[in-house]
Amino acid sequence: MAEFTIRVYKNRDYNAVRILFAEGMLEHIPATCAYLLKLPRAQFVLFISFITLLLVSRSYLLSLVSLAVVFTAGRRLLTKEYHQYVDKCEREDLLDIEESYMASNNSCFWVAESNGRVIGMVGIQSAPGSSEVMLLRRLSVAKDQRHKGMAKALCTKVIDFARQRGYKTVTLETSMIQHAAHKLYETMGFQKTDDKVIPSLLGRFANFSILTYEYKIKE
Ligand SMILES: CC(C)(COP(=O)(O)OP(=O)(O)OC[C@H]1O[C@@H](n2cnc3c(N)ncnc32)[C@H](O)[C@@H]1OP(=O)(O)O)[C@@H](O)C(=O)NCCC(=O)NCCS
Repeated sequence: MAEFTIRVYKNRDYNAVRILFAEGMLEHIPATCAYLLKLPRAQFVLFISFITLLLVSRSYLLSLVSLAVVFTAGRRLLTKEYHQYVDKCEREDLLDIEESYMASNNSCFWVAESNGRVIGMVGIQSAPGSSEVMLLRRLSVAKDQRHKGMAKALCTKVIDFARQRGYKTVTLETSMIQHAAHKLYETMGFQKTDDKVIPSLLGRFANFSILTYEYKIKE
């Protein structure tokens, strides 16, 4: 038997939903760091920096310490980028969840609950100007509640909602390092339709892309 129930969002879920979203995003920082460190171009930059420092200072210790400082600064920059993204989302649709998702017949937000605790969430909105495409948004499951089929159940809610309203497609965006999410969407029958590098300087340097997945609703 399922250890959770899924119900529509209520105002009292506001803080829990925002915290769950932030935690779900910020947990990707270590994976992004690891991805960046594996990039040959990042390794090249670190190697050149190390050799230059060594030639200038003639000290292995100083060069290694300087490299550690560069690494720490890079991680801080990345952490800042992630926090800025979370802040941006919390100023957009997650600022007034009731208004963003519950005010229209073509949008909705659900939470998964267990023993009074919000442990999962997802939202759906009509794509701007479209009567055929819906956007799946803000899917997240608490870390200690994963692998119980909760995300699958939340995605099924979203797909059923779109089907009942006559929409043809559910689409979503995710980043290249969210491997669990890729597997989830592929298992559910979504197909990858786009893979776009983020146009910022850091995005282009790291070849960091945003993937689009689509689910075609069967009649
Ligand atoms: C992605 C996420 C929502 C999955 O939640 P979940 O409740 O653990 O997922 P489910 O238990 O419903 O798993 C469904 C399927 O997804 C895949 N999956 C889920 N977690 C996985 C993992 N860590 N590694 C590989 N596949 C995974 C599996 O195919 C699984 O099916 P199976 O159990 O039959 O093998 C969760 O890891 C999460 O909240 N991550 C942080 C936020 C995030 O990245 N959200 C996605 C936004 S696009």
